[in-house]
Amino acid sequence: MKLYGVVMILSMLYLPLADTQEDYWPVHTACDSNTIKVVYSSCDPIQDVGFTLSSCSDIRAQLYVKASILLRQSIDELYLSVELFHNGVSTMRHDESICLPNFPRFTFCGNRRGEMVTIQSSLPGLKIPLKGNYNFKIHGINQNGFQIVCLNATAIFQ
Ligand SMILES: *[C@@H]1O[C@H](CO)[C@@H](O)[C@H](O)[C@H]1NC(C)=O
Repeated sequence: MKLYGVVMILSMLYLPLADTQEDYWPVHTACDSNTIKVVYSSCDPIQDVGFTLSSCSDIRAQLYVKASILLRQSIDELYLSVELFHNGVSTMRHDESICLPNFPRFTFCGNRRGEMVTIQSSLPGLKIPLKGNYNFKIHGINQNGFQIVCLNATAIFQ
């Protein structure tokens, strides 16, 4: 079982991160103030995704992000991969096991097909000056390598 998890993480690295066919779903606006604009779209061909930010005007405040997805397969295991581009250049890549069979970190781990999952996470208050465009690509797959979530979000600082 442990080996299986490792295989899944490795296979996730080969997911195409720069998918150009991203026009399945409309672009939503999560935030639009005079300092920051956050837009996002689902890059999953089958379902849209809901994504909200707790505060739009002051990103130095304690910030929460909330994403909601409807499960099309169970998530006994869930692996998330986040890639960050700054002004079009890949600057960070982070892979994380969110749910593992013997280590469910969140209450939604083990949820079944048809259930709604809401992931809420706090982000650290940002103190560094942010400039330009930050583009996030978030992919999540389950124990079968099935895509659970695919999100493309862009934060533009004005
Ligand atoms: C999706 O990603 C592309 C870069 O691959 C970016 O140009 C586009 O603005 C992004 N869309 C959203 C809604 O973030």
